[in-house]
This record gives sequence, structure tokens and C-alpha cells, in this order.
Amino acid sequence: MDRPPYSLLALLPLLVCVGLGSLLSGSAAAATVTAGTPDGSELWGYVEVRPKAHLFWWYYKSPQRPSTPSTPWPTVLWLQGGPGASGVGFGNFLEIGPLDVNLQPRNSTWLQKADLIFVCRSFSVSPPAAQDNPVGVGYSYVEDDSLLVTTDWQQAADATTLLKALVDEVPTLRSSPLFLVAESYGGKYAATLGASVARAARAGELNITLGGVALGDSWISPEDFTLSYTPLLLSVSRLDDNAGDEATKMAETVKDQIASGNFTDAEGSWNDLLGFIRTRSGHVVSAVLNLSRLLSVSSQDMYNFLDGSLADEATANAAAAGGSSPNAGAKAKPMMEEYSRRLSGNDGSETNTIGGIMNGVIKEKLKIIPKDLEWVVLNQAIDELLSYGVNVTVYNGQLDIICSTIGAEAWVQKLKWDGLKTFLSLPRQSLQCSPSIGTKGFVRSYKNLHFYWILGAGHYVPVDQPCIALSMIGSITQSPAS
Ligand SMILES: *[C@@H]1O[C@H](CO)[C@@H](O)[C@H](O)[C@H]1NC(C)=O
Ligand SMILES: *[C@@H]1O[C@H](CO)[C@@H](O)[C@H](O)[C@H]1NC(C)=O
Ligand SMILES: *[C@@H]1O[C@H](CO)[C@@H](O)[C@H](O)[C@H]1NC(C)=O
Ligand SMILES: *[C@@H]1O[C@H](CO)[C@@H](O)[C@H](O)[C@H]1NC(C)=O
Ligand SMILES: *[C@@H]1O[C@H](CO)[C@@H](O)[C@H](O)[C@H]1NC(C)=O
Repeated sequence: MDRPPYSLLALLPLLVCVGLGSLLSGSAAAATVTAGTPDGSELWGYVEVRPKAHLFWWYYKSPQRPSTPSTPWPTVLWLQGGPGASGVGFGNFLEIGPLDVNLQPRNSTWLQKADLIFVCRSFSVSPPAAQDNPVGVGYSYVEDDSLLVTTDWQQAADATTLLKALVDEVPTLRSSPLFLVAESYGGKYAATLGASVARAARAGELNITLGGVALGDSWISPEDFTLSYTPLLLSVSRLDDNAGDEATKMAETVKDQIASGNFTDAEGSWNDLLGFIRTRSGHVVSAVLNLSRLLSVSSQDMYNFLDGSLADEATANAAAAGGSSPNAGAKAKPMMEEYSRRLSGNDGSETNTIGGIMNGVIKEKLKIIPKDLEWVVLNQAIDELLSYGVNVTVYNGQLDIICSTIGAEAWVQKLKWDGLKTFLSLPRQSLQCSPSIGTKGFVRSYKNLHFYWILGAGHYVPVDQPCIALSMIGSITQSPAS
């Protein structure tokens, strides 16, 4: 699985910067460029992780950080899905950062429990629709298209190099346990990066305490997720038995193609399966199976099986916004708007788009972003981490389809870890989030493996259930924050 099939792009709306290579070639870049706010509460910069490959990072120091915490104050490094989506944009402004997409304070920000670091990666996704462009992710860029990484382990090596530099650039990092928290496709990356960081730390090459790795609704096992769609959708009446039988056959085909290493065909069959489910489930799986569609139609119904009407609504918005125009940015807007509107609970009239703010006010603020950047909308490592005694947390939204909870339970059951049998036999604890008294989730822990079931959440847990997500990250990081 060196190169992820591009249709995994469907795992997340994507934010990609294009056209950088040719524009930036020739410009000499220092190995490390760091800037920040005068009070040091925010730092950001570039680290040249390989010659001509520049990773962008953004650090936020928590205002809640006590000067002498009772236990070490944690740092969370957020790893976005995609592949190729940018944590700096999406995770930060739509999920856990201090400001929302309208640049208003987010009261559920994870900054209350930990310092936060977001990164943009340099991952080659090369979807056919974008093949003409060298593609970096977010504000990260390469000066030569050939320098884009293509495997999870290369990305992990780049990010480990980044962290080696950040130990010097971010003064708090040396004494702060680092938690890698991933969402969606980012889970593959967190697992490999976790193993890479653990190796470097054990070898004395990196002065960082790896506090743990958390995998949220993560695309760890394509086979298990694919096989989960039918039972899940049958149980919630989105498929009937006839369609279920057909979908099961299609999922078995995907499984066989994965087993034989025929990944291109597996991807095609997976797309066929999603298309079939879509027509037979009343559009629980969206039409978004390739990049051009991704840019024009909402894909959000794939992320929460209680959703269904969003696609139609977003299509209408796209039409209203001139959806037939070839301008990808304009087409991207309705999708991003749709989701952020739902997230922010407003009527959409004042909602900014991620592309808009990342190219506008945020770029202004950061200053060091090359002007030419544009934003358009776009596993065994876990066994190794468990064997090192690193805390591994899996959390999953109950309503997610694409990275379903039953799929996550299925891959967890295949872990090669000697505590697994005991883990699976233990009862779960229920979780509440005051002031509400209802059960919001469950957790099971044994030794260094932890699994959170988050009720009422789809693919984007911090967005759908901000209260329990915040409390969960406090527990995972053992934050001294009250
Ligand atoms: C955070 O925002 C939510 C939704 O707007 C609101 O219900 C909640 O009371 C707010 N919490 C705090 C601490 O302000
Ligand atoms: C890690 O920290 C120790 C003590 O501060 C220092 O002696 C050592 O050189 C550091 N290692 C690296 C790779 O920076
Ligand atoms: C991959 O599967 C297709 C049919 O789905 C088959 O024609 C092809 O020979 C397979 N390739 C390999 C390398 O197994
Ligand atoms: C991708 O979507 C576009 C727009 O709906 C469609 O025209 C095109 O045929 C699709 N391509 C593939 C490979 O399915
Ligand atoms: C793992 O997390 C638990 C709390 O869930 C904590 O008590 C323990 O010290 C952590 N272990 C490591 C190695 O960080």
C-alpha cells in the first residue's frame, strides 16, 4: 500500500495548494524559518526537511497552561486525513483550533487541555484531475514535483525531521509529552509517525517524550471498513436484504483484490460498491467518488449515516454559486460552506470558507507564506507502538460509515498484542459530559490500549460531539487542566 488510491480523497474535503513548484524554483529558502506573535503564544514556520522540501507548521501555546503544572503540560500534534488534507486549515479552523472558520473563538477548542501543533504535509496524491500540477498540501511545498513523498514511511521520516527541528524552535516541547492525534486517513500517518518517533527517541536522536498516539475514525484497514458497510447499513434500514447480498458480494471482491495486491482494481471495485450503496440506500453514500465531483458536490453524508439531504442541498448551493463554472475554487465553496455551516449552526449567510480565509486573512497574518500559494478545496506500526508500551487510543464516532466503528473494532481484534484477549474481555465504562446527564460514549482500557466509542458523532468527532471530545483529549493527554 505504497500509494493510497486517490479516491480515498473522499475521506475528507481537501485543501491543496497547487502550482508551487515552478513558481518557487530558484528562490533560496533557509533551512528553518520561524515567525510568531510577539507574546510567543503562537509560532509558525517552515522546516526544510529535505533539500527543497518545506514543511509548514503552526504552534499554539495554551493560555490555560499553568506556569508550574502538577504534571507535564501536554502537546497535541494534529494529523489530518485526506490523504493530503491540511491540519493547518481543516482541523484547526473547522474542528479543534482556537478560532472557527469565521475567526470567532471556539469554546470547545482542545487548546484548553494542551498546546497544539498543526502541520501541512507534502504528500503526492496526484488525482487525475490535478496531474498537471505539482501538489503540496496546505502551505507546505516542494520546489520540485519529484520531491513529493509517496509513502507513509517517507512522510513519517519527514515529520520526524520536522520534530527534531521543532525541539529547538518551540521551547515548551522538550518538557511536554507529545500526543499524535489523527483523523481519518491521518491515522495511517500517525501510526507510522508514532513508530518513527518512538524509534528516534529510543535511539536518543530525538529529545521528545511520545505521550501517545490517538486514532480517530481512522482509515487503518480498508478491508475491514469495506466489509462493514453492509451490516451497518442493514442494521439501520438503509439497505434491504437484496441490496445487502449484492453489496456483500462487491465487498468480497474488494477484499480479494486487496489480498492479491491488485490495489488499482480494489479501488475501482470500492468505488463501484459506494456507487451501488448510494443508489440503493437513498443516497447515504454520496456521489463524490472522484476529484471533480468532490469539488462540486457535498460528500458529507458519507460521514454520518443520519445525514442524507446534505448532498441535494449542497448541489443546489453549487448551482446558485455558479456551479457550472470550471473554477474549482468556486465549486469547492458550497461543500465547505455546507459543512462549516452545519458545524457552526448558523444560516450560512456569513460563513467564510476555509479556502477563503487561508488565502486571505490567515495568509496575511502569517506573512511568510509565498504569495503564489493558493488554496483550493481537496497499519503494523500500531503493533510496534503497543509493544513499546506507548499509549494507543482508538476513538470512533458511532454514526460514521466510511471508517465505521464496527470496521475499527474488526481491525483492533486483529492486533498482534499480548494484552488483546484481556482487553476484549473487559466491560466498558460509560462517559458523560456535564452539564448533560446522558451517556455520551464508552471507553475500554487495558494496559496501553484504549478505545472510545463516541455516541451521536459521525466521522468528525470533535465537531459533532465537542464536549465529550474535549473531555476525552483531556483524559488521553492526562492534561493538568481542570
Ligand atoms: C459553547 O457553545 C455551545 C454552542 O454554542 C453552547 O451551548 C455552550 O454553552 C458553550 N459553552 C461555553 C462554556 O460557553
Ligand atoms: C537530548 O538532551 C540531552 C540532555 O539535555 C542532551 O545531552 C542531548 O545531546 C540531546 N540529544 C539531542 C539529539 O539533542
Ligand atoms: C487484477 O484484477 C483484474 C480483474 O479485476 C484482473 O483482470 C487482473 O489480471 C488482476 N491483476 C493482477 C496483477 O492480479
Ligand atoms: C468524475 O466525475 C465527473 C463529474 O461528475 C465525471 O464527469 C467523470 O466521468 C468522473 N470520472 C470518473 C473516472 O468516474
Ligand atoms: C498511558 O496512559 C495512562 C492513563 O490512561 C497513564 O496512567 C500511563 O502513565 C500512560 N503510559 C505512558 C507510557 O505514557
